[in-house]
Order: sequence, then structure tokens, then C-alpha cells
Amino acid sequence: MITLGIESTAHTLGIGIKIEDKLVNVLDTYQGSYIPRDLAEHHAKFFRPLLESALSSAEISLRDINLIAVSQGPGIGAPLSFGVGMANYLSYKLNIPVIGVNHGYAHVKIVEFTNRRSGDLALYISGGNTMILRVRDLKIIGETLDMGIGNMLDKAARYLGLRNAADLERLALQHDKYIEFPYTVKGMNTTFAGIYTYFVNRANKKLDRVENLAYSLFHTSFSMLLETLARAVFAYNAESVIVCGGVAQSKILNEMLDKFSKQYGVEILRTDNMYNRDNGAMIAVLGEELYIQGYRSSYPLEAIPRYRVSDSLKHYLNR
Ligand code: FE2
Repeated sequence: MITLGIESTAHTLGIGIKIEDKLVNVLDTYQGSYIPRDLAEHHAKFFRPLLESALSSAEISLRDINLIAVSQGPGIGAPLSFGVGMANYLSYKLNIPVIGVNHGYAHVKIVEFTNRRSGDLALYISGGNTMILRVRDLKIIGETLDMGIGNMLDKAARYLGLRNAADLERLALQHDKYIEFPYTVKGMNTTFAGIYTYFVNRANKKLDRVENLAYSLFHTSFSMLLETLARAVFAYNAESVIVCGGVAQSKILNEMLDKFSKQYGVEILRTDNMYNRDNGAMIAVLGEELYIQGYRSSYPLEAIPRYRVSDSLKHYLNR
């Protein structure tokens, strides 16, 4: 079976192809302001070159594809609808089925696929999402009460005139001192608006080296996250935790996770950075698995901009 995966929920257009155990993954990320129409235009421009590049890497033609999988949500209206529209068109043109999948669930699933095993809990951390899930039934057992941790780090980076959280982390790695930051955890939930405001205020006063501010922001917010994760591990008797989403690429976080793993005797399941970013391969992997399990989407597919990960299995026929 050969499955094409299309990811277009936000700034990245990703095309993935799954052929048995082999994955092809090509993508392009829009650089610039977050205007929905600009994202959709970027995806429209790159769709054909990325599709052709994926097909040539997989050494197949479009006609060899048996199933189209697409991110149905959550996402930003315009780019999301573009991807869903292309999936509907290809399904009609090639006369093959199309299946819609939840983007967040795909982040979890690609870690299981690349590790060849399942996990008990998942820490799903990206721009807009910060949550702890029970993998078995995708129950959300903890999440951010305001902004996603990735958005908070990106905003802090842009406040200093940097591009994104990855640039801010490079700065943080040059620190020489930890500054105490506000720390807020509510049970298994986190909140990041307060720590962000504190960061901005201190940066404004120019009393600290920005390297120390960055270091302290990363360490404090990740400590909050790991405190809620520790609580979840005990409450649900977890032996393994999947860590996924864009923020899972953080070097500082991964060092903290190594210590967490030893301290709590829990196994951390991770994947390559190319699969932690938004990508089409993860969509192909989840779409194919659901299709094989008997899940079917109605045609034409519609975008679901506010698709909660806990509703991942609700939008199928006869279920
Ligand atoms: Fe994502």
C-alpha cells in the first residue's frame, strides 16, 4: 500500500509518502508574518514542486498512490482548507479514497511508528499546543491554560529581535547565570502568560544579559512542564512517555528529559527532528493506520479548524 500524506495546517506545507516501512518526507516552511492568505498562497506555490520531489524520491508516479491522507485540523482556516481541497481533488482525480486525520494525533503516532512501539503518555508541545495525553484513548490529562509553550518562546525571541525559539535557545546556551522567574503550575496544567510578561519586563529594563534571561525562561518554563508530567506519570502509572511536536526539538528540553527519565524511571520515546516539525510523513502514517483499521472519511472532506486531539476518532463514518 502506498499512502500520500498532506500537511498544511499552518506555516509548513509537507508532502509525505509511506511505502510499507519506508517514509519520504519533503516540506517547505513559509518565513514571514502569519497572515492566513499568505500561508495559503505559499502552499499553493509549493504544492506541485514538493509533490514532484516526493514522488521522485519515492521512485513512483502519482498513479501508484492508493490512499490520500490529509491533516483535517486543527489549523488556520486558509492554509488548512487549501490542503484539504487538494486532497479532495487528488482523491477524485486518481479515483482513490481520502482520509482526514487529526494533526496532533499524527505527531504522537509518528513517534510510535519510528520507535516501533507504543507509549503510555504523550507530551505534545508545539507552537499552539502544550498538553499531556493518555495515548490509549487520547484523553487530555493536562494542558496549558493560556498560550502554547512554543508560541511563548517564539514571542520572547521576536521581542529580542530574533527570528524564533531556536535562535533564542542558541542564545540561552551561552548563559552564565540563572535568574529566578515566576513559576506557575496548576495540578497537571500550566500557564505561560505570566512568565512571558516577566521576561518582557526584565528585558525592557536591560538589567540582565539576554543570554541569562533566555536561559532562565527556557529552564523555568520546561521545569513547569516536567513537574506536571511527573504528576501525570504517577497518577497514571506510566512507564513510557512520548515527547512530540515542534518544541520536542529543544536541546535544553532533551537534556532535562534525560534527567527526568533517570529520576522517575520512565522511558522517553522520541523521534528525529524532521518528524517533530510539521510534516506530511506523519499524516501518511496515521491516515494509513486508521484506514487499515476500518475508519472512513466522508467525501468531500471538510477542514475542522478547531479539531481537538481528544476528538481524533469522532469524525469517521459509521463510528
Ligand atoms: Fe504540529
